[in-house]
Amino acid sequence: MFVLHVALQGCLRGNNVEYGVTTDTGGHIRYLLDLVAACSRDVPETRSFIATRAFDGFGEAYRTPIEVVDPKTTILRFPTDNPAYLAKEDLHSEIESFSDALIAHLEAAEERPDLLHAHYADAAVVAAKVKAKLGIPFVFTGHSLGKVKQKAMPSCASDRGFGERIAAEELALDQASLIIASSRDEAELQYKSYRNYDPGRIRVLPPGSDLKAFCSAQSSPAVEQELSRFLTEPEKPVLLAIARPVTKKNLAGLVEAYGRSKPLQALANLVIVAGTRGDIDTLEAEIAENLKDLLQLIDRYDLYGKVAYPKSHRSEDIPAFYAYARDRGGIFVNPALNEPFGLTLLEAAAVGLPLVATDSGGPNDIVETCGNGLLVDPRDANGIADALLQILKDPDLWTRFSQNGDVAVRTYDWSRHVTRYSELMTDLVHLPEPAVQRPIQLLISDIDNTLVGSVPHLHAFGNWRRVQENLAFGVATGRSFHSAMAVLEQQDVPRPEVMITSVGSEIYTLDENGVSYVQDHDWLQRICGNWQRSAVERVLRTVAGLTPQAPLEQRDFKLSYFSDGTHATIERVKQALQNAGLLASVIHSHKRYLDILPIKASKGTAVDHVRRRYGLAQTAVFVAGDSGNDIEMLQSIPQSIIVANYSDDLGKLPSLKHSYIASNTHAAGIIEGVLHFRGKQEAACPRAS
Ligand code: GLC
Ligand code: MG
Repeated sequence: MFVLHVALQGCLRGNNVEYGVTTDTGGHIRYLLDLVAACSRDVPETRSFIATRAFDGFGEAYRTPIEVVDPKTTILRFPTDNPAYLAKEDLHSEIESFSDALIAHLEAAEERPDLLHAHYADAAVVAAKVKAKLGIPFVFTGHSLGKVKQKAMPSCASDRGFGERIAAEELALDQASLIIASSRDEAELQYKSYRNYDPGRIRVLPPGSDLKAFCSAQSSPAVEQELSRFLTEPEKPVLLAIARPVTKKNLAGLVEAYGRSKPLQALANLVIVAGTRGDIDTLEAEIAENLKDLLQLIDRYDLYGKVAYPKSHRSEDIPAFYAYARDRGGIFVNPALNEPFGLTLLEAAAVGLPLVATDSGGPNDIVETCGNGLLVDPRDANGIADALLQILKDPDLWTRFSQNGDVAVRTYDWSRHVTRYSELMTDLVHLPEPAVQRPIQLLISDIDNTLVGSVPHLHAFGNWRRVQENLAFGVATGRSFHSAMAVLEQQDVPRPEVMITSVGSEIYTLDENGVSYVQDHDWLQRICGNWQRSAVERVLRTVAGLTPQAPLEQRDFKLSYFSDGTHATIERVKQALQNAGLLASVIHSHKRYLDILPIKASKGTAVDHVRRRYGLAQTAVFVAGDSGNDIEMLQSIPQSIIVANYSDDLGKLPSLKHSYIASNTHAAGIIEGVLHFRGKQEAACPRAS
C-alpha cells in the first residue's frame, strides 16, 4: 500500500519539529508523523509520502524538495505562487498552484499512490483536484473543524479564510471515500451540522498516545511534601483533577460538588493541579478569574485542610500526582463542560485510577471502551458527588475500574491504530470479494451479550459466518452506528452487510466498496411521522425515576434514559406520554435502560424493512437476542433465537414461546439456533436426493 499524505500547514519536517514555532505547528503534525512512523514500523507493505508546501524564511529545511525520513517515508515539498510562509487562514490562495505542482509530479512519477490522505480542510481541496484529474481516491482527517470553532466563538465566522474553510470541509465530506475521526463525539456530533454529513462514511479510529511513562508511575517525595502542606489527613483517598483553570474545564463545578457534600468530604480529599502560577493578578484574565472563583469556593465551603491546589509543579511531577492518588484509592475527575478528546483520562487510566468524567465529548469513548469509570453531567454537582461516592464506597468497583485502565494502554496505541488503518485503506483500494448479492437467508443479531460477550464463541462465529454463502448478516443494537462499529472492530467481527442501530431507529448497509456504509433514508422517512422529539423530551423531564443518558446517546429518533428499574416508573412514562397526546414506543431493558422511539421504529420493524429490501420471505430470516430491547424483534420474527445467557425473563415470556432457547451462550447460541431452524426446514421439506 502506497499512501500519499497531503498536509499544508505549519513548519512540517521529519525530525525535531519545532512545535509552537508558529501557531499552526501543532498537534496535527504530531499526529501525522506518529501515524507514518507507526506505519513504517508496523505495517510491512506500506510506504508513505507526505506532500507539503515549500516556503522561505524558516531555514533551508522547509525549502528542501525531498526529505527522506526513513526508508519507507519521504516528505516532498512543492513551491507555490507565494514563496513566503503563510498562516492557515491565508493558504487557500496557494491551493491551485500547489495542486498543479502535485499533479504534474504524479503524472511524471513512475508509480502512483494507491490513495491520498488529506489532513485538514485545505488539503482536502488538493486531494479532490487530484481525484478529479487522476482518479486516485482519498481519505480525510479533519483534525479540527470550523463549525466547532464557530460554536465556541461565533464571531470567528467573519474571520479571514473562514468561509473557504467551511467550503473545504463540505467538499471533503462530499468527496472523500472515508473520513477518519478520533472520537464518537467528532463522528456523531461535530460533523453533524455540515450539509454533506454522511455518518456511514465516517470511521472512528482513536489516535495512539504514549502512555508508557504513566504505566510505571510512582509517587514522589516532592509531590508528597507539596500536598502535605495543604491536607490535614493526607492518607485519605484523593479526588484528583488536572486541568488548565479555564472556564471550559469547570474546576469550579467540582469544588462545588465537593463543597456541598459532607459525606464526600468525610471520605476523601480534593487535589486540584491547575497549572503553575505566580501572582494571580498577572495572569490572563480568564485564568485569573477562574482561580479566584476556586479560592472563593474553598473559602465559602470552608474546605481548608481538605483541598490542595499547589501553586507550581514541574511537568515531570504529573505522573507522580496520579500515582499519589492511586496509592490512596483515589479517583481522577474530569468535570469539563466539553472535553474534545481526554488525554489526561488516558494517563490516569494507565496509572490505574478510576475515572469520573464529563459525559460531553471524548471521555464517553474512553469509559465505554475501557469500562473504567462513570460518566456525569458536568453541570450536575449532586450527580458528580454521587458518582464519586459510589466508587469510594465500593472497593470491588474501585479495583475493577482501576484494573480496566489497562485497556486504555492497549487501545490507544499507534500500532493498533495503524493495523486497523491499513486494513481499512487496503480494503478501500481493492475491490471486495463479491458480496452476498442475492442472499437467500438473512441473520440479524443483537450485539451486546448476544454476538459479543465470549471471545472464543465470537471467533467460532467469524469462521462459521465466512463459509455461509448466501447468508446476509446484520446486527441490530441499541448502540449508535459508531459505537457499534467500534465494538465490532475491536472484536474482529466480520463486517456486517447491515447495521440496524439506535434500537432500530437507524439502518445502514455496507457500500459496494465493502468498507463504508450508506444510511437508509427511506427508513427515516417511514418512521418520522408522529415523532415529536422535543415535546417527548419536555414531558419526560417531569417524570420521576428517570435520568437522561449522555448527550451522545440521544439521537434524532431515539431519546434514552436510565430508569430506576421499577415497573411504576415505566407506567408513569407511558401515562405521561399518553396524557400529553404523544405517540412513542417505550422500550425497557436490563432494568436500567429506557429508550423512547418513534412509534414505528423498533429493531423488529427495521428487520422487516431490511427483509423486504432483500426480497426475502419471513421464513428466510433468523434473529437473535438476549434482553428487553430485543423482545419486540424476537416476537415479530418466527425464527427467533434466545441465547442461553438471556436476561429480562425472556425465556419465560408467553409472547416468545415460539423462540428457540439455545443451550449455548452468546455467539455459539446464535449458530446453534440457526442450525436448529435450518434442520426443521429440512425435515419439513427434505431436498430431493
Ligand atoms: C445501548 C445504548 C443505550 C440504550 C441501550 C438499550 O446501551 O447505548 O442508549 O439505552 O443500548 O437499548
Ligand atoms: Mg443485548
